[in-house]
Amino acid sequence: MNSKPVSTSVSTSAAKSGKSPVRKAVIPAAGLGTRFLPATKTIPKEMLPIVDKPTLLLVVEEVARAGFEDVVLIQGRGKTAIEDFFDVSYELEEKLEREGKTDWLSSLKNIRNSINVISIRQKRALGLGHAIWTARPVIGDEPFAVLLGDEIMINKESETPVIGQLAQRFASTGLSTVAMMKVPDSDTHKYGIVAGDPVASEAGIEVLRVRDVVEKPSTGTAPSNWALPGRYVFDAEILRELADAKPGKNGEIQLTDAMQSIAKQKGMLASTFVGRRYDAGDKLGYLQANIELALERDDLRVDLTRYLKSLAGRL
Ligand code: G1P
Repeated sequence: MNSKPVSTSVSTSAAKSGKSPVRKAVIPAAGLGTRFLPATKTIPKEMLPIVDKPTLLLVVEEVARAGFEDVVLIQGRGKTAIEDFFDVSYELEEKLEREGKTDWLSSLKNIRNSINVISIRQKRALGLGHAIWTARPVIGDEPFAVLLGDEIMINKESETPVIGQLAQRFASTGLSTVAMMKVPDSDTHKYGIVAGDPVASEAGIEVLRVRDVVEKPSTGTAPSNWALPGRYVFDAEILRELADAKPGKNGEIQLTDAMQSIAKQKGMLASTFVGRRYDAGDKLGYLQANIELALERDDLRVDLTRYLKSLAGRL
């Protein structure tokens, strides 16, 4: 393993200029969404709304705020609603413009104008690692980001979006960098877990040089409590690892197995981040995201707070 010292400083100049050191992002959105059946029988889970925005739009907004140029959506069968969402709905848009009801439309147009949305079909559900590998015709030999389509990361407009924070660390160190968060022992079996050696941290951000990556370790066997919450920036090398990958945990091509190889060869960092994370792929996480993001909305805060207080009194 490469043991050169690693600078952990992150510049904000890229974020300020709107230019990202990483240009492309992959969002795997091909899963069957079985945890949300029956709703997901006909609606892709990534299109389930958080208040009134599809989860996937919140993830694409994070990519656009980070100044990326291309976002590649990896889709499976029955997911055409996703492609349609990022396309123009001529009749609807023309009617709303005529009526002057353009608030949400203008933010969607901004996204459409600032980032290219590219769709790729994953023909067989062979695992997260395989889904990402299907993006290789668009990624080529460039570094790229991965954002899981049902994980939401929220921070202030004035802060660098979480995926941008990882991209900046990649730019300053040359090493693939993934987000990590602390979870209790009882939850380590739900996540990819990283363990490694701490490198200098700053401003409350902890950084590890990754030694081990384990996909969903059985309870009591996790090498640490640092879980992967679905935000990654990779050197293109990971695509070469995925090309040769063998099925791992649950018979799937696992992204974490390819990460382990990268960590052992070139080296990889894991970093905490500035932002709140919601797992919208989990029923409780989905409800929490809806309530907390609704509480941040001027049109809902007062009435929802009143309702939650009266509800708490009845529980
Ligand atoms: C996937 C990854 C896992 C990661 C998790 C985050 O698992 O395989 O490493 O920690 O997402 O949500 P999934 O939850 O899709 O089974």
